[in-house]
Amino acid sequence: MTTGFVISGYFLPIVGTLLIAYLLGTIVYRLCLHPLAGVPGPILAALTYWYEFYYDAIQPAQYVFKIQKLHKEFEPVVRTTPAEVSIADLDFIDTIYSPGPSQKRDKDIEKVKALVLDSSIGGAVGHDLHRRRRRALSSFYSPRQVLRVAPDGEVLNLSDLYFGFANDFGFDQNLMAGLPGAHTRRENFNGVLRAVKLNSQFTWVRDLLRYLARSLPLTLSSYITPQTDTVGRVGQENINSIVHELHNDHKLPQSERSPRRLEDEAVLLLVAGTQSTQVALSLVHYHLMANSTIMANLRAELESQPSSTLAQLLQLPYLNDVVQETHRLAFGVTGRNARVSPDQPTTYVDKSTARTFTFPPGTSMSTSTLLVHANEEIFPDPFAFDPGRWLGPAGAARKNYQMGFSKGPRMCIGMHLVNAEMVIAIAAMARWNLELFATSYEDVTFLHDYHIITPRLDSKGVRACVKSRAQ
Ligand code: HEM
Repeated sequence: MTTGFVISGYFLPIVGTLLIAYLLGTIVYRLCLHPLAGVPGPILAALTYWYEFYYDAIQPAQYVFKIQKLHKEFEPVVRTTPAEVSIADLDFIDTIYSPGPSQKRDKDIEKVKALVLDSSIGGAVGHDLHRRRRRALSSFYSPRQVLRVAPDGEVLNLSDLYFGFANDFGFDQNLMAGLPGAHTRRENFNGVLRAVKLNSQFTWVRDLLRYLARSLPLTLSSYITPQTDTVGRVGQENINSIVHELHNDHKLPQSERSPRRLEDEAVLLLVAGTQSTQVALSLVHYHLMANSTIMANLRAELESQPSSTLAQLLQLPYLNDVVQETHRLAFGVTGRNARVSPDQPTTYVDKSTARTFTFPPGTSMSTSTLLVHANEEIFPDPFAFDPGRWLGPAGAARKNYQMGFSKGPRMCIGMHLVNAEMVIAIAAMARWNLELFATSYEDVTFLHDYHIITPRLDSKGVRACVKSRAQ
């Protein structure tokens, strides 16, 4: 009784004192002693991850836009979380993403965990593990392989249609046969992507759900993971699939061929390959319908140089400029896509002040596609869809700032496939006169960062009436 009283009498003050000491210690460490302590930025962002949480989870996926504003206030380097910096200097992009063979780049483990696909290529945090997974997949997405894949009055929901197209192009699930199925799957994918912001803050909830999903009886488990349940099995059922090839590749260690890892890889390929391609195709079709001059230029090129094969389409200059401009305004992967130097410090010199910043190994560094693609010096009137900006020597120079597929050893493995899908779909769509139906700029523009550009949250997608076949 007395012991219990003594314990309960001292318990709360001791715990309270420890908690206060911990909080004060964290404050002093993060603001004064942390290696990033001198980096400009809001004090709250340096102090706590709740700052990021507020702008990404309470405000729906807005931190990337807030960071853009912070750069106007604090200039090129901003501390965006206690352990993370954003650098808005386009000359520094290669140092972050493509520093050359002698230097390693890991991913930021916290951001990778949020995707819940830890054992996929996208979940490979360490440089060496990533290289192994990338090598295993590369041949399936090489230009030669892609060329082999494609040798030669009703309101339509183009977003659903293109979701089905992108899905069937890579995964052979025949979603194009029934657009309601494509619509449901597209909505499910949106749901998965919208959960990422919460996942990144509440990793324990994510781990618990994943544990429950794998340990509960099948019916309940498939209720918890309805979006990923079927896609995870896709590769294993299809005898010609990449997953099947990986499974039988005996040069890979057993751990790289485990069912869990192959499931994660299948889901990642499906998520990465379908939704971003759908967004790009819906966006380009919107702009072509909204801008008759651009559509006329495109049709003139397609008529003057009739192309019956994919290889020929990939050579058409204006069509390719339309594709470049689409990737620019689709903003690729919209978040911070951070990279981490695991073993060497990284130095950045602010050219305007000559101030030198040294980021220690482990610092999460990024330059978002928003900071690059909406940079008015490189891309004047950045939110206008203007394929002409990619013409000639000035256009060629701008390609250095095309971040739609990122840069360096972790850049998109599917880019040749996407570009093939895009030229085929754009050339085909140009043969039809369509009119936008109840669709506005707000249905395609970048308003929220849920990994890919997300327009207004209640958007029904890009919808159009089919009028006639173009001459
Ligand atoms: C317009 C469509 C697409 C865009 C804009 C896009 C963009 C990107 C970007 C920016 C990255 C780098 C992500 C990072 O920094 O963490 C990436 C990675 C990746 N993408 Fe794509 N992607 C597209 C389509 C595809 C397709 C069709 C596939 C294949 C099925 C694919 C598979 C992948 C994979 C596997 C990775 C991880 C690569 C690695 O870590 O080495 N993507 N993509």
